[in-house]
Amino acid sequence: MNEIRPIEWANGTLRLLDQTRLPSEEVIVEAHGYLEAVNAIKTMQVRGAPAIGVTAAYAVAMAARDLSFSERTTFLQRLTEAGTVIKAARPTAVNLMWAVDRMLAIAESETDTAKIKDRLVEEAVSIEKQDEDINRRMGSHGIELMPDGGSVLTHCNAGALATAAFGTAVGVIRAGWEDGKRFKVFNTETRPFLQGARLTAWEFKKLGIPSTLVVDSAAGMLMRRGEIGCVITGADRIAANGDTANKIGTYTLAVLAKENGIPFYVAAPISTVDMSLSNGDEIEIEKRASSEVTEFRGIPVAPEGVIALNPAFDVTPARYVNAIITETGVVRPPFIEGLDTAVKSAG
Ligand code: MRU
Repeated sequence: MNEIRPIEWANGTLRLLDQTRLPSEEVIVEAHGYLEAVNAIKTMQVRGAPAIGVTAAYAVAMAARDLSFSERTTFLQRLTEAGTVIKAARPTAVNLMWAVDRMLAIAESETDTAKIKDRLVEEAVSIEKQDEDINRRMGSHGIELMPDGGSVLTHCNAGALATAAFGTAVGVIRAGWEDGKRFKVFNTETRPFLQGARLTAWEFKKLGIPSTLVVDSAAGMLMRRGEIGCVITGADRIAANGDTANKIGTYTLAVLAKENGIPFYVAAPISTVDMSLSNGDEIEIEKRASSEVTEFRGIPVAPEGVIALNPAFDVTPARYVNAIITETGVVRPPFIEGLDTAVKSAG
């Protein structure tokens, strides 16, 4: 099977599979400089926490490449300014800030600007490669949580498209299937941007894993009828206590899962864990345009003049999460200790 890889670095150009055009068209957009990469993140041509981290890393590499100063201090100053612009592209997924900081630390460690430019390209390539490896490891660790028989529900898109390759929550589902387990898969539509309907359903089709698409509001009824065995989602930021920010609607699913005695799992790399935040109340929630709710691809779905509130994420308190799957293994409550150990063992 051809792996889905939404990000490709080719001869100094970042080639992105435009996720706003899927599933009807598979179109590549090119970013030739860091501001084009920032724009691709803002407009969600590339999206999903690990994928925007990888894109941000290449954006820093392009920003450095395009700087003409050879004096190190000025060079680093300008690069840090570009880093600030890149970090501001979207506020919630911490992988974006993590990737920029990792890249800037590499720049700081070198003495010569020509060397910095080379090292930054190498580092971005290695962040991309590591992301796939991390996701495959997460998949292997998560197999034990996947049922043999029964069913799994996932929300938004935490698949290959949201990463360099393989995916996080969808990667765990895939690993379960590749291990020979058989279970029914449900995926939510994920209003308003339809990451579930447009992207996750597209990925499951490519993977050959049968999935059933449901509207977000059907999840409670399915759980109550005993049709959902477990829920697994990705994450955009996890606080030190395990509170988890993910796509809007995740909190609702987690509360419904607990009410119905169904385990709720999160699959995310250590780069999504933000140990600087003691709990999820401190996570900034992105507010996106009203038009994403009142229109679909320019067609109105609400009366003219209606203003919609469009928070892109919510925070699920740790008490609703049964396990967090990372590349270091499966972390169980109390997360405050488990995540600390996982972060330290990831290095
Ligand atoms: O707004 P998006 O599409 O970037 O939101 C993506 C999600 O919420 C994903 O579930 C999350 O980033 C985890 S992706 C592996």
